[in-house]
Amino acid sequence: MSTEDKVRAALSGVIDPGSGRDIVSAGMVRGLSMSGDTVRFVIEADPARAPALEPLRRAAEEAVKALPGIEHVAAVLTAHAAPGTTPAPGAASGPKGPPPDLNLGRKKPAPPQKKLPEGVSRVIAVASGKGGVGKSTVTANLAVALAARGRRVGVLDADVYGPSQPRMLGVSGRPSSPDGTTILPLRNHGVTLMSLGLITGENEAVIWRGPMLMGALQQMLGQVQWGRLDVLLVDLPPGTGDVQMTLAQKVPLAGAIVVSTPQDIALIDARKGIDMFSRMEVPIIGLIENMAGFVCDGCGKLHHPFGHGGARAEAERLGVPFLGEIPLDLAVREASDSGAPVVLQNPEGPEAAAFWKIADALTGNGVIA
Ligand SMILES: Nc1ncnc2c1ncn2[C@@H]1O[C@H](COP(=O)(O)OP(=O)(O)OP(=O)(O)O)[C@@H](O)[C@H]1O
Ligand SMILES: [Mg+2]
Repeated sequence: MSTEDKVRAALSGVIDPGSGRDIVSAGMVRGLSMSGDTVRFVIEADPARAPALEPLRRAAEEAVKALPGIEHVAAVLTAHAAPGTTPAPGAASGPKGPPPDLNLGRKKPAPPQKKLPEGVSRVIAVASGKGGVGKSTVTANLAVALAARGRRVGVLDADVYGPSQPRMLGVSGRPSSPDGTTILPLRNHGVTLMSLGLITGENEAVIWRGPMLMGALQQMLGQVQWGRLDVLLVDLPPGTGDVQMTLAQKVPLAGAIVVSTPQDIALIDARKGIDMFSRMEVPIIGLIENMAGFVCDGCGKLHHPFGHGGARAEAERLGVPFLGEIPLDLAVREASDSGAPVVLQNPEGPEAAAFWKIADALTGNGVIA
């Protein structure tokens, strides 16, 4: 039995008191992902019942944590929305949000209103089909590179399941809300940042009271005082799920940057991501190949553990711009882990050069004015 099967079997023992069914066969478990000894999943519930389901969420977490080899479990409760609908802005804050649009008297629902966050000139999504290919690393490095080039840059960490920007950009502390409605983001390395990780703490499961993550995403877009920004980079979770859809429906995106490693499996997923953005009429700004090759300390030769050139070839095949290759290098990871991306730590180095080149391409081709 694979670990995933074991996790599903454990969750099958958790009964939803509302329906009397276990949460797996009731279809409430979504987005199950595993990395190392960490398991993450979403429990989807009727919005009206969500607040009462905290004990169920905890029971599901405990059931998975009891499995050998699993150290961390993050179960997130989200409101189930009918296909094609998204929660009203501010839905996570309960009574504070505006009244729902009941669409009275109209046959067709009005197309969702897209709106840029106040003061923000353009929003660019950084996406990938597959997890762990380097979206967050690319976002953090491009953000500080663009800031160093004099642009006003913000990062919205929309990876609501596993936010990593606070660590990568070296930001800690909690954002304040002087008026109880708007949220003041934090800043480091010239970049303005908002992340659920700043509210929940890096190692905590995300538990947002009244807990609707899509509402949380919309709050981060609409209620954060971003100030004047030339560009807001949105670091997405992997895949083509609710967060991507909500973002594309709510914000007129200037485009999406898709990150992939050169290997086939990552590229297949990248294709799905590109396809989703195309369907949602979001322009693809370009494809970046990350972990493209590494120079061995011992023998000095260039190796390509994940292959080479796959993303460039794929970009050509799909007719989307190829933005550049970033080498696999310990310095990239160490810099990210230490809270100052490699373009700051070693701006003259070859890894940084790859990021500068992409940042300059984005400002040079008018994507970011
Ligand atoms: N070019 C690189 N060289 C070395 N390490 C890298 C490189 N790019 C990313 N990494 C490391 O790989 C890991 C995954 O990268 P990252 O978190 O940026 O990926 P992600 O696509 O955002 O992942 P997730 O899908 O979990 O959000 C991190 O530890 C990061 O430091
Ligand atoms: Mg990430």
